[in-house]
Amino acid sequence: MGEADAMTDVERVRVALGARSYDVLVGEGLLRRAGQAIAPLLSRPRVAVLTEERVAALHLESLRAGLAGEGITMSALALPPGEATKGWAGLERAVEWLISERVERGDMVLALGGGVIGDLAGFAAAVLRRGVRFVQVPTSLLAQVDSSVGGKTGINSPQGKNLIGAFHQPSLVLADIGLLDSLPARDFLAGYGEVVKYGLLGDAGFFTWLEANGPALAAGDRGLRAQAVRHSVAMKAAIVARDETEAGERALLNLGHTFGHALEAATGYSDRLLHGEAVGLGCVLAFQLSARLGLCPQEAPGRVAAHLAALGLPYRLGQVPGGLPGAEALIGLMAQDKKVVAGRMRFVLAKDIGQAFLSEDVPGDVLRAVREEALEG
Ligand code: GLY
Repeated sequence: MGEADAMTDVERVRVALGARSYDVLVGEGLLRRAGQAIAPLLSRPRVAVLTEERVAALHLESLRAGLAGEGITMSALALPPGEATKGWAGLERAVEWLISERVERGDMVLALGGGVIGDLAGFAAAVLRRGVRFVQVPTSLLAQVDSSVGGKTGINSPQGKNLIGAFHQPSLVLADIGLLDSLPARDFLAGYGEVVKYGLLGDAGFFTWLEANGPALAAGDRGLRAQAVRHSVAMKAAIVARDETEAGERALLNLGHTFGHALEAATGYSDRLLHGEAVGLGCVLAFQLSARLGLCPQEAPGRVAAHLAALGLPYRLGQVPGGLPGAEALIGLMAQDKKVVAGRMRFVLAKDIGQAFLSEDVPGDVLRAVREEALEG
């Protein structure tokens, strides 16, 4: 076996889910070694790849070559980029294409792309012939640290994001760190919002590490990027293994998301505010809310905001271009979030950095005050 073939330089994180367990491989050059990683999972040497046009232009031929090296052929469908693809029409196109490609029950679908493609392809695989297996090949930081791991798949409804979907675990995740080099800086940073979330929700030491290493990591240091992705994935894998279907602890991964989803809805899911940026802002708001309720130290929100600011991420609402609706409208948008249980909004609050917990007990007037404070920032 040649040096390029050995996977010794690759980190392997296990998602322990009994018969549905799988590995997340984190390292460089995984696209070119995709055939080697995937071949043991195949019942015949062919795969169907769902991707999007921008990603296809950058990476599809490398994937094709990586698979061909092990004698695996592939066909591919490249969908338009953007959140709009993740709807009924995109799903229909994907599933009908897979059927036309004669993908059988024992075959493998590959999702090559960011969160939109991973969620859509995973859901297409979940419903095709009552479920075929799939491999996630995430190309964005956000997808590598969050959406490709844990089996949440689905599409958006006109009535809200991610309202239609299924838990369908992948058979393998290939997180190729080298692919992050081709991301626009803003997309990389938006994904970093989700990385910060892991430190904030459950690992103060990791947050301190990010404060020290975040700027070099964002500037392109691949070793630091691999460490951050591996650590984030390991944290997520542990949580998913304990609570696959979000009966409890997994909801901590939604730190910053109740505020974040409302901000995304208020900005029309446009590039005024990317998902990871909204999550970062949502984390600041969650810590401000926790501090105002006397649950966490008063200096914690400032530390969260300072780290986002140091990376060039938005950290106060006034930075969102085009302005935001008032407190009542934002609270109304939060109430539509799918995390609402029995009509009560659930918040992920924090006792301190690295110590998040779930709460349903947040008075409306405190929410309003936090929103006003965050606007002034
Ligand atoms: N992105 C949150 C989760 O996978 O649970």
